[in-house]
Amino acid sequence: MKSQYVDELKSGQTVKEKFILSKKIIKEKRDGGSYAMLEFTDRTGSIEGIAWDNVAESSHMLSLGDFVFISGTVNEYNEKLQIVVSSIKRISEDEIDPKDFLRQSDENIDKVMDEIEAFISGVSNSYLKKLLASFFEDQVFTKNFRLAPAAKRAHHAYLGGLAVHTRNILKLMAKIPSVYKSLNFDLLITAGILHDIGKIYEYTYTKKIDFSTRGKMLGHIIIGYELIAEKIGKIPQFPEDLRSKLLHMIVAHHGEFEWGSPKQPMFLEALILHFIDNLDSKAEMIIEELRKNKGLGKEWSDYHPYLEREIYLREQQ
Ligand SMILES: [Fe+2]
Ligand SMILES: [Fe+2]
Repeated sequence: MKSQYVDELKSGQTVKEKFILSKKIIKEKRDGGSYAMLEFTDRTGSIEGIAWDNVAESSHMLSLGDFVFISGTVNEYNEKLQIVVSSIKRISEDEIDPKDFLRQSDENIDKVMDEIEAFISGVSNSYLKKLLASFFEDQVFTKNFRLAPAAKRAHHAYLGGLAVHTRNILKLMAKIPSVYKSLNFDLLITAGILHDIGKIYEYTYTKKIDFSTRGKMLGHIIIGYELIAEKIGKIPQFPEDLRSKLLHMIVAHHGEFEWGSPKQPMFLEALILHFIDNLDSKAEMIIEELRKNKGLGKEWSDYHPYLEREIYLREQQ
């Protein structure tokens, strides 16, 4: 276990600790020499760092994602903490404890999975029931579903994030039939449960959360489509219309072509899945900004690259 974590660092403190190098920009100084703008990450967050001259030189040899041991001092620059690095060296993966670097959900994942299981049990259509069972009765699948993040950075970017995001979507979906009465609730819930299962393979999450090769090449929408189409193929007489509708919901859940959706939602359940998915991912981004900035006394967050705006941070008086 580390003894110093990013979220506990204070201005003036000396740091001697292990981190992941998550950003590295080397710049030339006007008088010759160089400096390096760095970022260090552990499971609690990220902090910027700066290294001058010969320390910047030694960071030339480092790659993003390397585990590093750094010495330095924390100071405040532009209302943000940063580490002025006095030495930095790469360390091997054997010298770290993965639990120090992978953020985990604050929620009890057993409880989250129980909530998801309750929705699975509520599905009465026999084909959708068989389909869900074919995934969730597979112990390897369930183990990975519990562990997977929902993103590398954007939302629920921590272990257990996929399960929490899926549970949130199901709870929001549970409210829908009281407003829109003529929809296929079994289809909606099944698509809600399965919509992001491609993320299990889109990311790697043993040492750090990153894209897998398969994830980079195909993305979770296509991977999810493949997984579901394959399981449906093994269920005798699975109705063709139900198959097309469920697969359409997977490929249309990002809603717009520019958000990586091969199709736009073309019926009510698909449209609802898209908007609920969008709601939960964006709500989580705002909640995450509030969490990250808690106690810093800031009125506005930094510019948020996914939401493309700053977030107002003051809580209501
Ligand atoms: Fe998605
Ligand atoms: Fe999603």
